[in-house]
Amino acid sequence: MKILIVGASGLVGSHCYKFFTSKGFETLGTHVNFSTEYTIHFNPSESQFEINVCLSGFKPNVIVHCGALTNVDYCETNEEDSYISTVQSVINLVGYCKVNNCKLIYLSTDYVFDGQKGPYTEDADVNPINIYGKHKLIAEQHVSTLNNFIIARITNVYGEEARAKNFIERLLIWLTTNEKKVLNLPYDQFATPVYAGDIAKMLFNLLVDNKNGIYHLSSTDYCTRFQLAARVKGYFPNNESVQIASSSTHSLKQPAKRPLFGGMLSNKFIKEYPDFLFTSVDKYISDYIKKCQ
Ligand SMILES: NC(=O)c1ccc[n+]([C@@H]2O[C@H](COP(=O)([O-])OP(=O)(O)OC[C@H]3O[C@@H](n4cnc5c(N)ncnc54)[C@H](OP(=O)(O)O)[C@@H]3O)[C@@H](O)[C@H]2O)c1
Repeated sequence: MKILIVGASGLVGSHCYKFFTSKGFETLGTHVNFSTEYTIHFNPSESQFEINVCLSGFKPNVIVHCGALTNVDYCETNEEDSYISTVQSVINLVGYCKVNNCKLIYLSTDYVFDGQKGPYTEDADVNPINIYGKHKLIAEQHVSTLNNFIIARITNVYGEEARAKNFIERLLIWLTTNEKKVLNLPYDQFATPVYAGDIAKMLFNLLVDNKNGIYHLSSTDYCTRFQLAARVKGYFPNNESVQIASSSTHSLKQPAKRPLFGGMLSNKFIKEYPDFLFTSVDKYISDYIKKCQ
């Protein structure tokens, strides 16, 4: 099987690339701006013609689309950019998949929900409240016109990554290097943090078993951003350089509205894979600390 991983320079894509390659798949990873030794430049938002030309050499059977403009506040004020990156890229890849009989695995988000009643199962009603969520939902609708697809909704992803941009990774770096930081974090935005390595393994299972449809991929952690930071900081009792305060989401005045009771339940996945062992935030932090010693 030949797998194209779009956005392999990012957090989720890099884990997918490494895991799928380690399992013996023929993989090709792509980046847009952040080149790596294992990726080629590929922008899925370009014209359908360009896409077809770029993929004509590799001819993937499966495309895992992890590419997106993920800055939610930027998307809110740059709607056209967001549409091109998130929706147009999917329209192009769906077009390629239809003609070439290719499966599409699309990474989506709990931001397709309004955050009134989370954590959500796959059959919950969608109702996005910001541009990023609206565009991810439109993208999902295009993906679901295919016969062979998986929409994997994820949120609050953490894990090792080249740019160490995810929240837990940044926090761990600040705490282990005693960098001075004052963080003001919402106490009322709940989500389900999930390890990027687990996402890669879950997608691998779904792919080899030829599953179709929507899956929520989350772990068993459910907490606010403030609680998450406090949990990480708790492992560094002597650290005084990182200060954490809590605020309401309203007082933070972020450009994009946030779903407050977000997060997801992966009951469907657990039912189909009862033996799957999830990484918890606690396990990830303790392993990280052991590696540093
Ligand atoms: N991380 C999370 O907590 C989270 C939560 C919910 C959903 N998701 C979804 O999961 C997927 C992967 O997220 P991530 O955290 O791995 O993101 P990430 O680390 O920011 O990586 C995004 C990837 O997309 C590429 N990219 C940038 N602009 C693009 C464009 N216009 N078209 C195609 N690709 C583009 C980036 O390339 P360069 O860096 O090389 O420019 C990078 O490889 C995304 O679809 C995101 O919406 C993530």
